[in-house]
Parts: sequence; C-alpha cells; structure tokens
Amino acid sequence: MRRPTQVGAVVPSSARLAGLLASVVPREGCPVVVELGPGTGAISSVIADRLPTGARHIAVELDPTMGDYLRRSQPDLEVINGDAAKLGMLLAERGVMQVDAVISGLPWALFDRDTQRSILGQVTNVIGTTGAFATFAYLHGMPLSAARRFRRTLHDIFDEVVVSRTVWRNMPPAFGYICRRPAATRA
Ligand SMILES: C[S@@+](CC[C@H](N)C(=O)[O-])C[C@H]1O[C@@H](n2cnc3c(N)ncnc32)[C@H](O)[C@@H]1O
Repeated sequence: MRRPTQVGAVVPSSARLAGLLASVVPREGCPVVVELGPGTGAISSVIADRLPTGARHIAVELDPTMGDYLRRSQPDLEVINGDAAKLGMLLAERGVMQVDAVISGLPWALFDRDTQRSILGQVTNVIGTTGAFATFAYLHGMPLSAARRFRRTLHDIFDEVVVSRTVWRNMPPAFGYICRRPAATRA
C-alpha cells in the first residue's frame, strides 16, 4: 500500500496463476530459473515445488524489505536485492550468463515505454533462443495504454507469444503471456 507504483498489486498472485506461470520451469536437468519481482514469494514457492534437485532459483527484488522476508521464508531461493533493468549484470556477477526461464511478477502496466523495453531487452539476452519468458497482466488493466503497449512490445520482440485463458481465481483476474524465441535485434 505504501509503494503502489512499484508493487502494482494489493494481494499476492493465486496458486492458480502461479501454476500457469511456473509451467515454463523445466522439471528435469539442472535448470537456472530467474524470477523478477517475487514480492512475498507467492510464485516463488510454486516454482520451487516444480524445480528438480540441482536447479538454481534466483529472484531479483527491488524492495529490500521484501528481499529480507524472502530470504527468511524461502532459504533455498537466491535473493538479489536489485533492479530487473540490470538483470544481465546482476546475473553475470554471480557467474550466470544464460538461463532456462524468466518468470516475472513485475507491474508492467506501471512502467513507461523505455523501462518496459529495457527490462525486456535484459530478459531476451539471458534467455537466448532456447529459454522461455512468462509473465502476467490483470484483465481490468487492459484498457490502459501502457498495458496495451506492453502486449504489442511482446509481439514485436518474441517470435511466439501465447496468451493464456483468464485465471478467474486470482485477485484481480489475470492472464499469462508465455513467450519464446526473441529475435536478437528486436528488443
Ligand atoms: C505485483 S508485485 C508481484 C509480487 C509477486 N510476484 C506476486 O505475483 O504475488 C510486483 C513486485 O515487483 C517488484 N518490483 C517492481 N519494480 C521492480 C524492478 N524494477 N526490479 C525488481 N523488482 C521490482 C515490487 O517491489 C514487487 O515486489
């Protein structure tokens, strides 16, 4: 409630929405999965349940208080206090150059065009041609120009953008975007 323009939600995502987003998480091998804007960890715990032993699960959260909370509540999660706009650098500092999936809980509709593009550019760099990107939008927010711009930008940047059905069991109802194969020059 104190930071509405940074958080963009009043309650955490539901298990149903988290399950939809976590579907991009590989169940085998030793994947590296990154979460942007984990907040209080509603999606993180569903990702963790799906990850195989030996996987790496990294979360980038801007708010240090939420970061501290996550470190206490989900000790297996590698929490980075930082800005998703610096994702490449934050991962490189930890020896990670490429990841299998990025799952975002960021409030895209609150970001301006440059911020949306800059964060998506970081995402496409780290997933490369083989990784997946999953995020969500609130149904009621779709009349906002920033939300429509975000959707157009996803279609510009990714070869494949799958828009999910509406998850009515979420407050407020939301839907997911599952994106693959960024074109290197488009972000
Ligand atoms: C809508 S909440 C989502 C929380 C959680 N993922 C969920 O779905 O319940 C958005 C989160 O993104 C974080 N955030 C906003 N801008 C960010 C940025 N540039 N980099 C990293 N985290 C950011 C906020 O602090 C907040 O925790």
